[in-house]
Amino acid sequence: MKTAILQKLRETGDFVSGQELCDAFGVSRTAVWKAINHLKEEGYDIESVSRRGYRLKENADVLSRYEILQSLDTKWLGQNCHYYDEIDSTNTQLKRLFQDDPDLPHGTLAVTDRQVAGRGRRGRVWETPAGTNIAMSILLRPAFAPDKASMLTILTALAVAEGTEKLTGLPCQIKWPNDVIIRKKKYCGILTEMSAEVDYIEYVIVGIGINVNTTEFPEEIAKTATSIFLEKDEKAVRASLIREILCAFEKYYELFEKSQDLTPLTEIYNKRLVSMNQTVRVLDPKGEFEGISKGINETGELIVEKEGGEEVLVYAGEVSVRGVYGYV
Ligand code: BTN
Repeated sequence: MKTAILQKLRETGDFVSGQELCDAFGVSRTAVWKAINHLKEEGYDIESVSRRGYRLKENADVLSRYEILQSLDTKWLGQNCHYYDEIDSTNTQLKRLFQDDPDLPHGTLAVTDRQVAGRGRRGRVWETPAGTNIAMSILLRPAFAPDKASMLTILTALAVAEGTEKLTGLPCQIKWPNDVIIRKKKYCGILTEMSAEVDYIEYVIVGIGINVNTTEFPEEIAKTATSIFLEKDEKAVRASLIREILCAFEKYYELFEKSQDLTPLTEIYNKRLVSMNQTVRVLDPKGEFEGISKGINETGELIVEKEGGEEVLVYAGEVSVRGVYGYV
């Protein structure tokens, strides 16, 4: 009922009288009033004016399964959507869902408003306070070999960058392989996890953490992190951003699946690569070195040209790459 009222207010885009809502859904005035109050509690900005009725002021940043699915324009990605007001970690939750149901569909999405034990890369913590950011994970069941799974991180970064730029107009770049950057600061981090045998992937879970409406960061990351709100001075609607990212992800995943590598994506990826043609320092445990970043190849490795012209392929799992002048 609540959802039906919401839909009706949205479709009408103007005042709808209490009586009209009662007639449309065959319920009492009190039931309508209660449903409106629930919607307000969820964050919808609904104006009530006596003798005119109720009007929905659009663009409330309400995150819910309904808001994500209502106009999600994908074929398979995110159509099986699990939303939580609060969860430990969406990556962990997808693993649990898979353990309970090994038939969990390819493209299942888990999203939460508040993540209380979010995990970052290399054992770090990832914070997602209530009502501000996006913490979501996608379950993929690819038919390709496990050594290709790291390419999914590349594809994800590209989808986040494209989806964000489409919705907000902010210029998004990528810090190979896991971070999406706005004006040289980290805006999104990606944690890709996999369960596999040597020659068979059981599943891959791509976890995406996005700083959407955060107004301030803890001191340790305040200089290197940013959000849409901080860059635009305007809040973004998280459900709309999720939809844009999922659409871009599905498109890129299908291209990747067809070619079985990143060939169709390298050019657009390298255009967004923040280190492109810049000096980078490769923190290889076998010996650090510097060189010029020449972009990624079709398998997602970073091509780094050393002094003297020798090209080294840097594999994401083994080493970190830093800009020589700080975070990027
Ligand atoms: C990084 O260290 O940059 C990666 C951060 C990844 C965080 C996301 S939030 C959704 C998903 N669930 C988690 O516990 N982590 C990832």
